[in-house]
Amino acid sequence: MKEKDFIPFCRPTIGDDEIKEVVDSLKSGWITTGPKVARLEQEFRRWLGEHQEAVAVNSATAGLHLALLTLELNPGDEVITTSITWPSTVNNIVICGARPVFADVDMDTLQIMAQEIEKRITRRTRAVIPVHFAGAPVDLDPIRSLCQERGLDLIEDAAHAVGTSYQGRPIGSDSEVAVFSFHPIKNMTTGEGGMILCSRRQRADRMRRLRFHGISRDAWKRYSRGGSPQYEVVEPGFKYNMLDIEAAIGLHQLERLTNFNERRRHLAKNYFALLSQVPGIMPLKPPSYPHKHAWHLFVVRLDIDRLRIGRDEFIAKLQEDGIGVGLHFPAVHLQKFYRERYGFKRGMLPNAEWNSDRIFSLPLYPLLTEKEQERVVSSLKKLLKRYER
Ligand SMILES: Cc1ncc(COP(=O)(O)O)c(C=O)c1O
Repeated sequence: MKEKDFIPFCRPTIGDDEIKEVVDSLKSGWITTGPKVARLEQEFRRWLGEHQEAVAVNSATAGLHLALLTLELNPGDEVITTSITWPSTVNNIVICGARPVFADVDMDTLQIMAQEIEKRITRRTRAVIPVHFAGAPVDLDPIRSLCQERGLDLIEDAAHAVGTSYQGRPIGSDSEVAVFSFHPIKNMTTGEGGMILCSRRQRADRMRRLRFHGISRDAWKRYSRGGSPQYEVVEPGFKYNMLDIEAAIGLHQLERLTNFNERRRHLAKNYFALLSQVPGIMPLKPPSYPHKHAWHLFVVRLDIDRLRIGRDEFIAKLQEDGIGVGLHFPAVHLQKFYRERYGFKRGMLPNAEWNSDRIFSLPLYPLLTEKEQERVVSSLKKLLKRYER
């Protein structure tokens, strides 16, 4: 197969505006955190209605870490989340000294649900981290009411949800804390990066301080004209700041986000039409409550009972056939560390586990063409037939 025949799982859409803006930063003499990061924070919060504080960081993983740190968790405290997520959602709970507790997901949307969370609440529960999975929102109102009733903090993992709305409200616009990702496969990118949206000024200020060594002023304020080079460590912090050359990309990605997401929506609709005639491949269902899907991922389940090979072999064959594939996500509770440290095992979370064995993600990004989608689906059909039981 020629290189050009491979359909990659992901391809960022980088235009001339992004390139010019990065070059402008490179030539300006200031490439680390500075005016463009401040502008991206401003534009992002404006885009979400200006009710919130915005704190740019160098990844969503860093953002989740800071959000959890500001909860002052104690050993033995518990944080409830989903097992169908990228490991950093859960790793950060452990890193902050608490115990992760998993609630099962809906069988067909893979969203964590309030009634499952409620069953897992104990006297040690401090917070809940729902993940807006694949670009669809969780059913947020019941989760929020539950957290309010039981006095729990709510941190939304919104890594997939740039452009997602729930009940007419954009995710992040009214959140206690929501953390977005700008990793290259996400709906908009800064190379690597993330943004924390937060409703409380004081908490946002603390996260701002913690993202840069815990010192009282960032480098731009110290080194720019009129600034003074003094600083003071208020508490030990981290090196989680976003660069201006990253924000330069993000500023133009944000301008184009609505178009990007429209294109994703169109392509998702096209996949549903093409796959409606393919028994053996079951796409996730969009949630039944009112929402706007950002179509970050197009996740399907393979009907392994009708095949002679398993999911892992099937996706290896797809790759050999020139189709890039993603895996979002193998259940976190069954990963080595979590099995060994906490004794988590199969049988705890039936819906998450059933899906974890069958899911994979098809290419979905604005530059994907309809012709490429047809090739993806014809490759699926060919392999389903070849490995039929
Ligand atoms: C659900 C979820 N949370 C958090 C992250 C972490 O994002 P980042 O790569 O920006 O650290 C990801 C990344 O893929 C993710 O999918």
